[in-house]
Amino acid sequence: ATGADYQAEDATISQGAIATNHTGYTGTGFVDLTNVAGSYLQITVSAATAGSTSLAFRYANGTTTDRPMTVTVNGVTIAAALSFPPTADWNTWATKTVNASLLAGTNTVRATSNTADGGPNLDKLTVGVAADTQPPTT
Ligand code: GCU
Repeated sequence: ATGADYQAEDATISQGAIATNHTGYTGTGFVDLTNVAGSYLQITVSAATAGSTSLAFRYANGTTTDRPMTVTVNGVTIAAALSFPPTADWNTWATKTVNASLLAGTNTVRATSNTADGGPNLDKLTVGVAADTQPPTT
């Protein structure tokens, strides 16, 4: 199935900035969250119908350390520490997926940095791709 793409650079950033200083991003850039716990990206997601779907974050982490994030949907935590492991370098992107229930209509998805390292660089969120074939999220 083809998912709906939400570019990170079009979303709401709290403590961070749009950047273009690495290669391989989609859209016009990516979001570089500040290296602090609590920095976040908030994306407004539309769903035609209520139900479970997948949230796939395209990210880069050019360090050697995981950068876990808390993911909430409509204020409810669906992943307290979603792992964003290293991707070799900042030009190398990977996808991390978590399943979530969305409401029909507008939903608020927020990914917040758990540690003082901040989050990974975030390129986009894709909603609704092959939720039934995603790997375990815990
Ligand atoms: C580097 C890199 C940034 C990244 C940052 C970080 O400065 O160029 O893209 O966001 O490290 O550690 O988060």
